[in-house]
Amino acid sequence: MELEGRIALVTGASMGIGKSISIALAREGITVVITARTLEKLKETKNEIESFGGKAFIVRADLGEQEQIADLFRNIKREFGRLDIIINNAAVIVKGKLIDFAPDDFDRIININLKAVYLCCQQALKMMVPQKSGIIINISSNVAYKGYPEQSIYSASKSGVLAITKSIANEHQQDGISVAVIHPGAVDTGLATQARPDIDRKLLILPADVTATVIYMLKLSETAWVDEIIIRRRSAKPF
Ligand SMILES: NC(=O)c1ccc[n+]([C@@H]2O[C@H](COP(=O)([O-])OP(=O)(O)OC[C@H]3O[C@@H](n4cnc5c(N)ncnc54)[C@H](OP(=O)(O)O)[C@@H]3O)[C@@H](O)[C@H]2O)c1
Repeated sequence: MELEGRIALVTGASMGIGKSISIALAREGITVVITARTLEKLKETKNEIESFGGKAFIVRADLGEQEQIADLFRNIKREFGRLDIIINNAAVIVKGKLIDFAPDDFDRIININLKAVYLCCQQALKMMVPQKSGIIINISSNVAYKGYPEQSIYSASKSGVLAITKSIANEHQQDGISVAVIHPGAVDTGLATQARPDIDRKLLILPADVTATVIYMLKLSETAWVDEIIIRRRSAKPF
């Protein structure tokens, strides 16, 4: 896809991987709609983008709130009238053994990590299908495949993201829409500090590695696509 002048939405753009992706997209000449809950941090992302002449547009939203997701897309429609790329990246992790979780913990995590991805994909598709073009990249995790302890609800949410990705990729192939999922292992962000304090920080994947994968996908020729990429730490078990 020719990237210059495109409109992209990145969720969870206030820090970590989402911030890194937003900056990289802007460097490609893409106008990036950046969203998260923390306005101050979104402003930091925007300032960094504008420091090299890139374009960023902030829409603050709590993706756990359905109405705020609807507002986010109303804003995009009003401001730009189109959406070319969405990176569904925002997520939370709450560690713990399944036996110890409260019933509501499930809803809280699933609401942000999975239901918001479903709602954002739905809203994005409503704009992309009439355009007959669009790219959806969902950030899942290698926990979608592996059974790490103390990550049962998080893993369920990420397996759900994988399942949604597979279905909509097939539902909308004929509409000119390409859908992919990226499964990173432990990446050096606040989330990994919470999820995997046992791993030496020096061995963690960099946010820039995930970002490079997104850019690689976006720059594929019109005749090629990659459905899924798993990124692991070099020090983690292969396959
Ligand atoms: N780091 C890893 O080891 C790792 C590994 C595999 C997969 N991943 C995935 O990569 C993605 C990014 O993770 P990360 O490591 O960059 O995490 P992070 O540094 O904790 O950033 C998470 C982002 O999500 C946003 N967010 C959280 N709850 C939200 C809500 N209710 N509404 C709107 N935005 C919300 C946060 O912004 P606010 O707090 O400002 O709302 C933040 O921008 C996630 O999908 C994660 O599951 C990460």
